[in-house]
Parts: sequence; C-alpha cells; structure tokens
Amino acid sequence: MKQMYDEIVAVTENRPLTGGHFLLSLDSPRQAVATRPGQFAMVRILGRSDVLLRRPMSIYDIRPVANHHGGKARTEQAPRVMQLLYKVVGRGTRLMSALKPGDRVGLLAPLGHGFFVEEYLPRAHEADEILLVAGGIGIAALLLPAKELAEAGFSARLFFGGRTQADLVGAEDFKPYVRAALLATENGATGYKGFVTRPLEDYLARHTNKKCLLLVCGPWAMLRATVELARKYGHPCLVSMENRMGCGLGVCLGCCIRVQGTGHEAYQRVCTEGPVFWAEKVVWEDGIRETVDGENHPGQVRQQTKGTR
Ligand SMILES: Cc1cc2nc3c(=O)[nH]c(=O)nc-3n(C[C@H](O)[C@H](O)[C@H](O)COP(=O)(O)OP(=O)(O)OC[C@H]3O[C@@H](n4cnc5c(N)ncnc54)[C@H](O)[C@@H]3O)c2cc1C
Ligand code: FES
Repeated sequence: MKQMYDEIVAVTENRPLTGGHFLLSLDSPRQAVATRPGQFAMVRILGRSDVLLRRPMSIYDIRPVANHHGGKARTEQAPRVMQLLYKVVGRGTRLMSALKPGDRVGLLAPLGHGFFVEEYLPRAHEADEILLVAGGIGIAALLLPAKELAEAGFSARLFFGGRTQADLVGAEDFKPYVRAALLATENGATGYKGFVTRPLEDYLARHTNKKCLLLVCGPWAMLRATVELARKYGHPCLVSMENRMGCGLGVCLGCCIRVQGTGHEAYQRVCTEGPVFWAEKVVWEDGIRETVDGENHPGQVRQQTKGTR
C-alpha cells in the first residue's frame, strides 16, 4: 500500500465560499507531502457519536505556509497544509462547516489511486491538449492534476459547469495552470447557458484534428455524457468516480462499482483501485443514480442508507 497516515490534525482555516461551499485548510505536513494528484482524504468529526463514518473528500490543494522569522515572512517550500473544497449536503458536511481554526479532526490520507504521473503522462504526451472537465464540486479533484500538468509543460483547458454562478467555486484557482477556462451555468448567469457538455462538444467538433486527453469529475449524468463525447471523438478519458464509502481502505467493499470483466473482476473498489479509472474500464449502466436529495452521484450503485453512519 502507498504511504498513508491516520492523524488528528488542526484546522487552520474554514473559509465560507458561495453556494454552501467551504475551503477547509488543515495543518498536516506528512499527509500533504505524501499526496499525489487525484487522491482523497477521509475526514472524521471528533467527539460526535451521531456521525460515525468518515466522509471522503478529494484533496483539492496542498500548500506551504508562510512562517515569520525575525519579523520577515519566509515561505516554506515543502507543503504542509492540506485543503479540502466541499459542499454542505448533509449531516457530516454541516458539522464540517462549523469547524473553527484550532479545532481538530481525524484525517486519513492520502488515499486512492489518483491521476498518477506514471500512468497518465505517457497518454498526455500523445495529446495536443489536456481537457479538464468538471461538474459542480467535481472541480475539487482537478486542481492538483492541473498544477502538475502545467509544471510538466502541458497545455490544458478547463470546462467547468455548475447549476448557478455560486457553484463555480475554485475557477479562479485554475487560472495560472490552464490556457483557457470555459464556464457554463444552467441558468446562463455566468458563461454558457446549459450543461457544460454542450460547449465541450462544440470544441471537440471544431478541433477534430487535435488529439486530446480528458480528465473528468462530476455528477453521474455529466460524467456519462462526457465519456460518450470522448468516445465519439476518439479521445482517451480518465474519470474520477465517487461512491458511498465505509472504510476508504479497501476492506468493507462498500464502494464497489461495475467494471469490464466477469465474476469478481466485474467489480472494483472506488477507494483503492480508484477513484480514477480509464472511462472504458467502467460499465456505464443505468442503475440507481438518484439519491435522496435528487442529486445524481457518480458510481452510486446502492441506495442511501438513512440514520447514523
Ligand atoms: C472519492 C470521493 C471524493 C469526494 N470529494 C468530495 C469533495 O472534494 N468535495 C465534496 O463536497 N464532496 C466530495 N465527495 C462527496 C462527499 O463525500 C459527500 O458529499 C459527503 O460524504 C456527504 O456527507 P454528509 O454527511 O454531509 O451527507 P449525508 O447526510 O451522508 O448525505 C447527503 C447526500 O449526499 C450524498 N452522499 C453522501 N456520501 C456520498 C458520497 N461518498 N458520494 C456521493 N454522494 C454522497 C447522499 O447520497 C445524500 O444524497 C467525495 C466523495 C468521494 C467518494
Ligand atoms: S470504502 Fe471500504 S472498500 Fe472502499
């Protein structure tokens, strides 16, 4: 297993953003240093017997902190702060939103098989352009890959869709790493009016001579539509999947999704083999995708369990 730590860490900031989103910063040097793009963390709210399970969150960013030595600010180069970008949707995330600087949380991280360099860089080298495609809070999985691709000299373009302008959190953070960002909202308040897959299709149709690699994260319907477009225009596509999680460590099998194969091989764990998969590996079947809040969540193969989790 890759390097992973189970720690109790301190909150340094929990910044409210628009649309019920927050950016949580945690002081966690060992976990920050070990993080690779596309990995996730499991957050445990301490001292709450009514929220037993940890909540999975993509690792949005890792950053150094400014230290003050002799009155002068000095920026440490090694990352020590882990940032999680999250949306309040239920009990666990509501408790997270109440965290204050100095509070402590349990953090199991970094977890999962992300957009690892050794696997996606060879495909990126074959591409003329990388297309980062995000729907809603799916954006949280794509900043670290965007940074790493930019550092390696790749040209990337962001397609980011949300229901409203308030859902387009984090778009500014991508600016240094992408050559262009195309935004879409369902009500047209910002950017293209409609789903982000429409301008994505326009772009792919206008650039059929370009080889692209797509990195995608978002709700199930958007993932599926994007994967269809990648297939239609002949581009390789990596998807970051979500599912309800128990352990996050590959033990409970609660997060399995259907993949190509038979018998045991027809299922893989989002927490261990994923969350990032090649799109053609995933079986994009219509299953139970509607959850109690009416949201479509990717990879969700069983119903919401109500009560204490
Ligand atoms: C690998 C991974 C990365 C994720 N990254 C982020 C992230 O960066 N930011 C973010 O805001 N959210 C992320 N999520 C989703 C996040 O884990 C859930 O929103 C959170 O666990 C909900 O907890 P809750 O107690 O607030 O909601 P609950 O009261 O448990 O549920 C509220 C609603 O959220 C849905 N939900 C609960 N857990 C999940 C889940 N694991 N996946 C999808 N839907 C869920 C439920 O079906 C229900 O509709 C990620 C999930 C996974 C699996
Ligand atoms: S969450 Fe337990 S196996 Fe994936």
